[in-house]
Amino acid sequence: MLRLTDVAKDYGTPQRSIPVLRDISFTVPQGAFCAIVGPSGSGKSTLLNIIGLLDRPDRGEICFGGVRANFTSAAEAAQLRNRLIGFVFQSFQLLPRLCAWENVALPLLYRGVARSNRRLLALAMLERVGLANRADHLPSELSGGQSQRVALARALIGEPRLLLADEPTGSLDSVTATEVVALLRDLNQRLAVTILMVTHDRDLAAQCERRIELLDGRIVRETGIT
Ligand SMILES: Nc1ncnc2c1ncn2[C@@H]1O[C@H](COP(=O)(O)OP(=O)(O)O)[C@@H](O)[C@H]1O
Ligand SMILES: [Mg+2]
Repeated sequence: MLRLTDVAKDYGTPQRSIPVLRDISFTVPQGAFCAIVGPSGSGKSTLLNIIGLLDRPDRGEICFGGVRANFTSAAEAAQLRNRLIGFVFQSFQLLPRLCAWENVALPLLYRGVARSNRRLLALAMLERVGLANRADHLPSELSGGQSQRVALARALIGEPRLLLADEPTGSLDSVTATEVVALLRDLNQRLAVTILMVTHDRDLAAQCERRIELLDGRIVRETGIT
């Protein structure tokens, strides 16, 4: 489903460049649930942003289902991202003035779906993440775990084939974190969405059948990866 070949990224100037990712190659089959682990600063977010076509590599290539991502065309990258990829972040990134269902429905707004339809689809997705009874609540009225469920519903409403989650449990207590990972696992199985989750929680990572471990921008260990 996803294949990276010799992906590399540097920051800084050509005179003083700092390698952030080096020779990253791996494949993730359709439907896999894969954790990316490693200490702070090891390049996890940079890697996820490159896979999510939010950032471009300096070298190497990325293929989605055998199709090579074209980073030179911003429009093409945006189209591929919108069609293929959902994102969740540590900080939820909900819009504070929109209620839960309106946040969930945002990607449909960009696709031109009519409001009544958006609401129906958003309510169905909130139901899937166990939050149907909070549809009209504002983000300020939701707990951290509930906010992340709303963010998950928003990431999934466009039916992406790949969900990228950057420390989705980083702002949650351990019980809520475990619940959110259980939900991710459930969605992974029921919706057959491939998931890449960055985490520095080793217990959560241990629950994923595949793990990629980064250190200083290199893969130092792979578990369950083909
Ligand atoms: N936009 C940027 N400009 C310069 N350096 C950056 C930028 N983004 C990240 N870095 C550097 O790249 C390294 C990896 O960062 P990051 O991918 O955020 O790591 P992680 O998510 O594993 O904590 C860090 O040393 C960080 O300082
Ligand atoms: Mg990070």
